[in-house]
Amino acid sequence: MNILILAAGTRNKIVQYFRNTVRDDGEVVATDSSKLGPAIYDADKYYIVPPITASGYLDVILSICKKEKIHGILSLIDPELSLLAANEEKFKAIGTTVIGSSYELCELALDKYRMYQWLASRGYNCARSWMERDKFYKEVKEGGITYPVFVKPAYGSASISISKVYDKETVDNLFTHEDNLMIQEFLNGQEIGADVYIDMLSGEVVSIFTKKKIHMRAGETDKAVSFKDPELFAFIEKFVLEAGFKGQIDIDIFRINGQYYISEINPRFGGGYPHAYESGCNHMELIWNNLNGRANRKHIGAYEEGIYMMKYNELKIIRK
Ligand SMILES: Nc1ncnc2c1ncn2[C@@H]1O[C@H](COP(=O)(O)OP(=O)(O)O)[C@@H](O)[C@H]1O
Ligand SMILES: [Mg+2]
Repeated sequence: MNILILAAGTRNKIVQYFRNTVRDDGEVVATDSSKLGPAIYDADKYYIVPPITASGYLDVILSICKKEKIHGILSLIDPELSLLAANEEKFKAIGTTVIGSSYELCELALDKYRMYQWLASRGYNCARSWMERDKFYKEVKEGGITYPVFVKPAYGSASISISKVYDKETVDNLFTHEDNLMIQEFLNGQEIGADVYIDMLSGEVVSIFTKKKIHMRAGETDKAVSFKDPELFAFIEKFVLEAGFKGQIDIDIFRINGQYYISEINPRFGGGYPHAYESGCNHMELIWNNLNGRANRKHIGAYEEGIYMMKYNELKIIRK
């Protein structure tokens, strides 16, 4: 049984965790568009592939799957999730399972405004959002919303172009210089990250790890501490089942005045997943079991509270 990790980039830990889980029972193959993507060097084998926007990209990946007898494939970057999901049948035809959510859900998660509409229409607490400035200004006039607000790209990632904004002038300025921006109610509370695994065979939520974010750096959680709240677990389980996500997902949540708000969903391993793994939530093993035809037992909150994670830099040296 072999696994293919696409766009491994700098996610060395993810590659290492798969290696530790698969051991001698298979190979972990990784791809990157650059020879200088450090994570590929932690895999058993690697391929340098064209950028995902190149024509023929999918055929390159399909041919790697055939050649390497890949049983499970996953990607670590957002734009590729929909591509894999949309072509699930092509992968299935050659014996490869796409580890991830449906095309519709991958697209929904990419579009923060549509996700907001989905959440709001189902009664979930979430930040009120506007794509149209005029509608937002009208709300401000009517007293429905006050500054500060949060402005970010509706299709953004890695915290690029995000701003806390205190006045109309700045909103106008930002909108003049960038398209597809979204204005959001500012969520003022404790930020939380959840790493969740939804069994691909049973459809049950089998593992949840939650952490309080202490410090963010370059769009990623830099320091965090694990905690547990049965109410939060139940909230996450309800949301995830109602939406229908599958496999690994990462959720950004805020706790404000004792209430949980859903902020963002990434249907893949997030940059903060190592905290969950190192605390005992080995989701690679859950994936491995599913690929081997075994459904996983529900084991939510299988970790201790008060485990701190602090990131620091590592480096990879190669000679060619
Ligand atoms: N409405 C909001 N209120 C307060 N902070 C926010 C809001 N939206 C986003 N943020 C902050 O910005 C970060 C990045 O925003 P997010 O929507 O998660 O986009 P990305 O796809 O870049 O992770 C979040 O982790 C959070 O710290
Ligand atoms: Mg986020």
